Amino acid sequence: MKVELTHPHLLSITDLSSKEVLSLFDRSRELKTTTPVTSLQGKSVGLLFEKPSLRTRVSFEVAIHQLSGNAIYLGQNEVGLGTREPIADISLLLSRLVDAVACRTYSHANLEELADHSSIPIINALSDKEHPTQALADLLTIQEHFGRLNGIIIAYIGDGNNVAASLAQCAASVGASFRIASPPGYDLPADIFDIASKLANSNGSQFMSLRSPSEAVSNADVVYTDVWSSMGQENETEVRHKDFSQFQVTDELLKYAKSDAIFMHPMPAHYGEEVPDNFLEHPQSVTYEQAANKLYILKALLEAMLGSDT
Ligand code: CP
Repeated sequence: MKVELTHPHLLSITDLSSKEVLSLFDRSRELKTTTPVTSLQGKSVGLLFEKPSLRTRVSFEVAIHQLSGNAIYLGQNEVGLGTREPIADISLLLSRLVDAVACRTYSHANLEELADHSSIPIINALSDKEHPTQALADLLTIQEHFGRLNGIIIAYIGDGNNVAASLAQCAASVGASFRIASPPGYDLPADIFDIASKLANSNGSQFMSLRSPSEAVSNADVVYTDVWSSMGQENETEVRHKDFSQFQVTDELLKYAKSDAIFMHPMPAHYGEEVPDNFLEHPQSVTYEQAANKLYILKALLEAMLGSDT
């Protein structure tokens, strides 16, 4: 059954209630075994990407194709978001030509401006502030692996970046505990910290911001990390290498977690930085299942946001 959503756009993971998130997970699982599905028949989705993408772009394109819709990739060279043309004009035009837009952009403010002028759903495919579709794929993977989310302890080691922001808030909303260990200066933004803390309090889970990776990982079910320098931060690489040198996830660090803990990473990995060489192939790694789950969560999300009931 198609999931009903209250919010027209997905800019922040907090645009979804915990009930909506869990319903999307149920529908994602259904869609793994349901074919054919024609819920996007006659619908077109613009993929407006200012930054490179492998997993998210391919997952969107395949999801739309498998739902019988049409994906149109719009790279920055073609569109020039806010450079060749004002964002408001782009939004007003695309509202008349396609049925939804997934946008990957350097600035979250661009997404908000697109949404402000749009009469169609706008989906955040990664901004500097959040990566909500990643958090959905991650938590779907955790739920599938453990059979539950309530009471699961997620230890995130590294930068309080867009991936961490969406994951922290979504975990707290579905009753999972979230511990982040970051070096000074790389904490989650204060507004995200406040939202995640409040959500955790109201859902009986824990939200902790720490400095020690081993303390964060202690007895955790999930050990998660991401790159030390995200796209657009290449000029900070040298200083970040120094600042994050004690925050690599290694086999030794994983031993602090529960014996059946899983390792997660949104990919792409920077081997030799946040993880040693080939760490995505670690026996406890579920990174490829995690990446593949983006396809199924996007199918459920697209169907919910713009699909028919078929
Ligand atoms: N995890 C993720 O968003 O991957 P891409 O940048 O390849 O889309």
